[in-house]
Amino acid sequence: MGLSCGNPIAIAALQEGQTVLDLGSGGGFDVFQAGERVKASGRVIGVDMTPEMLAKARKNIAHYRQRLGLDNVEFRLGEIEYLPVADNSVDVVLSNCVINLSPDKPQVWREVFRTLKPGGKVSVSDLALLKPLPENIREMAAALVGCVAGAVLVDETRSMLEKTGFTSIVLTSKPDYVRNMQDWNDPLYKKIAEILPKGEEMADYVVSLSIEAKKPVEIQK
Ligand SMILES: C[S@@+](CC[C@H](N)C(=O)[O-])C[C@H]1O[C@@H](n2cnc3c(N)ncnc32)[C@H](O)[C@@H]1O
Repeated sequence: MGLSCGNPIAIAALQEGQTVLDLGSGGGFDVFQAGERVKASGRVIGVDMTPEMLAKARKNIAHYRQRLGLDNVEFRLGEIEYLPVADNSVDVVLSNCVINLSPDKPQVWREVFRTLKPGGKVSVSDLALLKPLPENIREMAAALVGCVAGAVLVDETRSMLEKTGFTSIVLTSKPDYVRNMQDWNDPLYKKIAEILPKGEEMADYVVSLSIEAKKPVEIQK
């Protein structure tokens, strides 16, 4: 969970009564925060493919209910490429550092589009590349764990979103996340930094990307 790239702004923008879906919900941190924002008339669904993560998140529900008196969150086992969520049922899709892990990102975006209500919103935080990673770094198995090897170019993300049918696409790169990891001497980033071409830093390649987009109210056939 320490690998996440942060989604607090997306959560702050949620409104009472909204239905929210969190892709790759992990231990449920963002789901519980979102639940607090959408209140009793809203609902938050977390989807994760790892039974251990799901068990961890579900275990936290009792404490959440007790603390806030809310019964508005749930966790479902599933893959973000095949979401266990009905069509046109979600107001906001959140995700924090997960889509970059998927081997089939166009399919993830199609599923996000399918589950969103017309006019619904994507508010995702992910890792993305400003330029292709050197081959030896791509191949580092450890990089996969750190969400780095599966990340795609910012422009590819835009093109996938456009092809899926999203509008009002706003992509904002935040190099500070990766820079901070280097400052903290994170072991993975330290190792990668050692094999980067001279004079280059990880933030020249990898950024935390804020992805905002909308499913249009009227869909063009
Ligand atoms: C880096 S963690 C992020 C967890 C959480 N979003 C956070 O910010 O703490 C990635 C999570 O995504 C889940 N995950 C990865 N690929 C997935 C997929 N294809 N479908 C569903 N869950 C996935 C993992 O099981 C893990 O819990």
